[in-house]
Amino acid sequence: MTEKRDLLDILVEIAEIMNKTKDVDSLLQRIIDLAKTYLKVKRVSVMLIENDKLKIVAAVGLNFDYSNICINLGEGISGKVAASGEEIVVNYADGVKKELGYSAKSYMCIPLKTSERVIGVLNVTDKENDFFTVEDVKIGKYIASQCALAVERFRLYEEEKRSEKLKLIGKFTASIAHDIKNLLNVAQGYLELLEIEISNNKVLREYVDSVVTELKIIYGLTLDVLDFSRNSILLTRERVRLSEFLSLIEKHTKIMVKFLDIKFEINCDFDEEIVIDKEKLFRVFMNLINNSVEALYGVGIIRIDVRKNDKFLIFEVYDNGIGIKKENLEKIFDPFFTSGKLKGTGLGLAVAKEIVKAHDGEIMVDSKEGEYTKFIIKLPVIK
Ligand SMILES: Nc1ncnc2c1ncn2[C@@H]1O[C@H](COP(=O)(O)OP(=O)(O)OP(=O)(O)O)[C@@H](O)[C@H]1O
Ligand SMILES: [Mg+2]
Repeated sequence: MTEKRDLLDILVEIAEIMNKTKDVDSLLQRIIDLAKTYLKVKRVSVMLIENDKLKIVAAVGLNFDYSNICINLGEGISGKVAASGEEIVVNYADGVKKELGYSAKSYMCIPLKTSERVIGVLNVTDKENDFFTVEDVKIGKYIASQCALAVERFRLYEEEKRSEKLKLIGKFTASIAHDIKNLLNVAQGYLELLEIEISNNKVLREYVDSVVTELKIIYGLTLDVLDFSRNSILLTRERVRLSEFLSLIEKHTKIMVKFLDIKFEINCDFDEEIVIDKEKLFRVFMNLINNSVEALYGVGIIRIDVRKNDKFLIFEVYDNGIGIKKENLEKIFDPFFTSGKLKGTGLGLAVAKEIVKAHDGEIMVDSKEGEYTKFIIKLPVIK
């Protein structure tokens, strides 16, 4: 009868602590303090799994430094319980549980389980009279479940705080990108004036053209960041002649590869009006061509082939550069996936994919490591 009352009391008290205490360390400490009193034991400790090892994070009754105790999963009693997820209870034992720096005459070790996995163990040792009843084990299991819940809640809370921080960083980056974009617009305006002034000086014009291209790429990058942080791409579609759009790409690519041994060609034997967001689709091609230039290490071919059928306009951007590893093929469109580059941010293809998707199109990749890479963009024809 008394044990029944104990269980009810501890349920109520732990529930109160759980609701009042936010800090996980003091929460665990208070729960195990209660456990020690109610279960009439000498020691209670909570161990959590970190990098496949168990470490004590809260304890009562351990009058020695336990900060260096570290138990491998599967080893010793705690390790076995953590690995199997099954509790171990021993009564009238002699000198067991030495792994924790003391020997005990009775103990129970109970796994701390969340909905998905075992995150640690609860050790309870040296019961009065050296015997844990079935009721004690029930209380032990309840305490362990509350400890697991406390830890899980705390981790979720920390995770939430981190993603809030990331959101803030995102907003901050977006506001900087926004300012850069506006300043670049101004710089571009002045360059256009300069272009007019020096129209009869071929060398100077070429220099200015190169600066314009570089600025356009920076401008594109800031737009990528902005689009990305907004999480949605808004299109401003306009009617453009395909040949005009391809010339724009050609002009800027030629400037990009001017000092390199890279051959660039566009194959397209038809012309028509297309309805696209010219600026954004231009960025898609610049992102692809930039990647191709980087994959060629100064030598090779970049080719754009344009085809069409009744429903689709199909662009293929090909290069005979280093190619993409098979295992990376499905990751390259993921935001922040970058490989083999010193300064890659991994946004180029993620944004390209979003822009093509916003055009109701599709972007696919075909590549062989060490041989070639081909990106295929399919855009539905809009009359
Ligand atoms: N033409 C290509 N040839 C070889 N690898 C490529 C090619 N295009 C993309 N990749 C691979 O895909 C990865 C992702 O490309 P993505 O353009 O998204 O990012 P990034 O180029 O690394 O960085 P950035 O955000 O500056 O563009 C690259 O890091 C590269 O490993
Ligand atoms: Mg890139």
